[in-house]
Amino acid sequence: MPSATPSARRFMRSADDRADAERLAFLVARAVGAKVPAAFRYSETELLMDYVGGIPGRTLQGDEREQERLMSTPSGKRLGLLDVLIGNEDRNPGNWKVVDGEVVGIDQGEAWSDAGKSLPDWGYQTFGREYYDFANDRWRKNDLSRADVERMEEALKAVRSEFIPSRQEWYDDMMKRFAEVKKHSRWRA
Ligand SMILES: Nc1ncnc2c1ncn2[C@@H]1O[C@H](COP(=O)(O)OP(=O)(O)OP(=O)(O)O)[C@@H](O)[C@H]1O
Ligand SMILES: [Mg+2]
Repeated sequence: MPSATPSARRFMRSADDRADAERLAFLVARAVGAKVPAAFRYSETELLMDYVGGIPGRTLQGDEREQERLMSTPSGKRLGLLDVLIGNEDRNPGNWKVVDGEVVGIDQGEAWSDAGKSLPDWGYQTFGREYYDFANDRWRKNDLSRADVERMEEALKAVRSEFIPSRQEWYDDMMKRFAEVKKHSRWRA
């Protein structure tokens, strides 16, 4: 019998997937009030993106208290909401910064990956924990009000055309997760 060999999971996406993930994640971020740089895709493999200054999350490695605090701030929660909606498991310390005290996501290139579909298996269970209890594989009650949910739902419907025709599946996956967020909101739960 072959022995179980530990191995690192590596998922290689195409440039087309990564570029679309960045561009569409920006539109979703804007719809739900999360902060990420504007990303404009202008060719098969190239994006134009705003530069994000501030302090790299990596410099806070080891400072658990500060990381926990940032995750509970309004901008931290919105970034977590973005990640669970777009199925982005890659929110590692190199993929966010702190600008004027607010958390800003950089690198949404792994959004809507196949690996990200299963939330309990995410490699980085960070900001999203505000909405999803990774350890127990269930949605968490969140503090979104009826007004928040309705505003976001309208805004998400408005970006649907950007996912047509080739990324419709991404949109549908996202809206399924949004339905869970809505169900577990302060308004509905
Ligand atoms: N919009 C941006 N503004 C400022 N810095 C950025 C931006 N995009 C990327 N960077 C910098 O470049 C680094 C790598 O970019 P990115 O995370 O997109 O690529 P990556 O292939 O995932 O690399 P890594 O494995 O280092 O995360 C980031 O950690 C950050 O320091
Ligand atoms: Mg990165």
